[in-house]
Amino acid sequence: MAETKVPEVRDITRIERIGAHSHIRGLGLDDALEARQVSQGMVGQKKARRAAGIITKMIQEGKIAGRAVLIAGQPGTGKTALAMGMAQSLGADTPFTAMGGSEIFSLEMGKTEALTQAFRKSIGIRIKEETEIIEGEVVEVQIDRPATGTGAKVGKLTLKTTEMETVYDLGTKMIESVTKEKVQAGDVITIDKATGKISKLGRSFTRARDYDAMGPQTKFVQCPEGELQKRKEVVHTVSLHEIDVINSRTQGFLALFSGDTGEIKGEVRDQINTKVAEWREEGKADIVPGVLFIDEVHMLDIECFSFLNRALESDMAPILIMATNRGITKIRGTNYSSPHGLPIDLLDRLLIISTSPYEEKALERILKIRCEEEDVEMTDDALAVLTKVAMETSLRYAIHLITSANLTCRKRKGTEVDVEDIKKVYSLFFDQGRSAQFLKEYQQEFMFNEQTESSTMDTS
Ligand SMILES: Nc1ncnc2c1ncn2[C@@H]1O[C@H](COP(=O)(O)OP(=O)(O)OP(=O)(O)O)[C@@H](O)[C@H]1O
Ligand SMILES: [Mg+2]
Repeated sequence: MAETKVPEVRDITRIERIGAHSHIRGLGLDDALEARQVSQGMVGQKKARRAAGIITKMIQEGKIAGRAVLIAGQPGTGKTALAMGMAQSLGADTPFTAMGGSEIFSLEMGKTEALTQAFRKSIGIRIKEETEIIEGEVVEVQIDRPATGTGAKVGKLTLKTTEMETVYDLGTKMIESVTKEKVQAGDVITIDKATGKISKLGRSFTRARDYDAMGPQTKFVQCPEGELQKRKEVVHTVSLHEIDVINSRTQGFLALFSGDTGEIKGEVRDQINTKVAEWREEGKADIVPGVLFIDEVHMLDIECFSFLNRALESDMAPILIMATNRGITKIRGTNYSSPHGLPIDLLDRLLIISTSPYEEKALERILKIRCEEEDVEMTDDALAVLTKVAMETSLRYAIHLITSANLTCRKRKGTEVDVEDIKKVYSLFFDQGRSAQFLKEYQQEFMFNEQTESSTMDTS
């Protein structure tokens, strides 16, 4: 009986991790920043990956800020994937904000405000704080109600290190947190002296044999050495935007959770900039320039572009990464055409990484990785056919077919997707080319088609 439950659990986790780029786990580079043919879910596109790797390295070393990079190339050549790979290899300490170019038009705030917020979300402030803590192994916890039955509880906590042992009197608040954290003899804990916050580090090794009912997650640690009271440096990284929201009187910090921050006043930002500059001088804080990634950047208009030009020059600018699949096209909001739909003065500031279409081998490899990602078994023949499809139509279309072919395979109670399944879904779902062909052939029967002179709408 127990065995039937296992696949169910696996199903749930499987659904969670599938997204268009969920197979990307980094840029797949070696220590010399050379691109491996297949690594971390990345395939081919070596030059672009290498270039992205160099940028990532410079970002990590804090060498660049206020620079901008454009990833340009045909649709489906892995531009967004590349940016996701960069985000992964930067790690959690570097802020990375991703947005689509069209997003700024749908927010309930001005375009420049939306961009300012995106910029400030991408700048981290690393704040160093020295705090006093008490760290030790719990010898005894004693919490009593007064004999009268009413009034506050009283408590004592005995802590020890390898060298000393001290008894602390507990106030009402401390009693509460001791009870809440379920602190017991044998736990190794730290208490933040300023806030009274208790954190459990684990159980002391000396108690390893005491309990047989301990869960597998129980962590054992050494009994701390030296003094019970210690100074500890803690580092928090918050984004400038978070500091803005917390200090903005109209919003309040709760807005951070609802995401409904609205516009933030210029004065608030000015004050914060001054404060951060002070912290920096006093050595209390560092600035961590993160990354702002704007996908489909051709959707921005001329006002946004001129804002970007200006914002990149400020001394607290993140690294701006943009991606576009457009050729020479109109700059939104003007009648002028320009490469990638970006104004020349912005283009001039950019480092451009270009991606090129994939060869058959790379396509096959990417499709194979996607099959693994979606837990789809596929025969070699089917994969070969699917690769042909990808060559003739597009990689995206072929990736979509994986999921649907798997479904038809399961419907016929098969275990491996075969050529038949691919054929079937290929005939069921049109790619862009065949759909356009169909429209050309049957345009008379559709509404609003522009190629016929008199449509039925005119006469009604
Ligand atoms: N080099 C690669 N290695 C692994 N997967 C890739 C690679 N290139 C693209 N892919 C995958 O192929 C799909 C299409 O790529 P992606 O969305 O990155 O294209 P794009 O260049 O951003 O296209 P568009 O211009 O239409 O936005 C995605 O699922 C992506 O994860
Ligand atoms: Mg994209």
